Amino acid sequence: MVAAESALRRRGEDGLARAVAMSYRGRLPAAEAEWAERIERVRVDLEACNDALDRDGRTVADVTRSGSKRRREASMLMALVRTERPASVIEMGTCVGISGAYLAAALRLNGNGVLVTLERGAERVGLARQVWADLGLADLVDARVGRFANTLAPALSDQEPVDFLFVDGHHERVPTLEFYAAAGPHLRAGALVVFDDIRWSDGMREAWADIERQPDQQFAVKVGDIGIVRRT
Ligand SMILES: C[S@@+](CC[C@H](N)C(=O)[O-])C[C@H]1O[C@@H](n2cnc3c(N)ncnc32)[C@H](O)[C@@H]1O
Repeated sequence: MVAAESALRRRGEDGLARAVAMSYRGRLPAAEAEWAERIERVRVDLEACNDALDRDGRTVADVTRSGSKRRREASMLMALVRTERPASVIEMGTCVGISGAYLAAALRLNGNGVLVTLERGAERVGLARQVWADLGLADLVDARVGRFANTLAPALSDQEPVDFLFVDGHHERVPTLEFYAAAGPHLRAGALVVFDDIRWSDGMREAWADIERQPDQQFAVKVGDIGIVRRT
């Protein structure tokens, strides 16, 4: 983490470096820490729920445990959104709404911005909507059901210019690079793009290696399994 912080500071990104440091050291400011506590209490309930969620019989507990960002990484997303103060956020991969809750909580604290989140599993989106409603965040989130191939382009068009894109689904090399290419023309100059699971597979490692070399970027920095890019 020290390497990522130094890399960000070298690029003059002191705000992002602070956000990364605070979240990784578990030292969020009081208002953010309070939201994290509330969201983590919801996670505990979800992880204790053995109701079937997906059509294949996977339970709420299974899906939450295997799919959702852990507290530290989700806190980092919240801290990044607090620092960046985006008006328009798109998340690819809603799952049961945990990272979406952290993103929306940051927007609530900012007093500005909306989150559009995309997910193919209708049952997952149904549960995520309940999670945000329970947390009092539902008014900030527009969740759209369908495959990214069908939902990403309309979301990009109607949220343009997009300030913050979080890519957390369909973790394969070609789709990841295609989604990023499709997003490019719709991103605001200076937008932040965050890729999760960049070390998840050979394909994702290759995708990140390609992204690191792309033009139209001020920097591409790795923070553990997460890649952060600032567009030019
Ligand atoms: C890692 S989970 C997202 C976790 C969530 N961001 C969180 O941390 O709380 C990835 C999600 O993306 C969805 N997904 C994967 N490929 C997709 C695609 N091609 N179109 C739409 N959704 C997809 C999966 O159903 C899954 O729920």
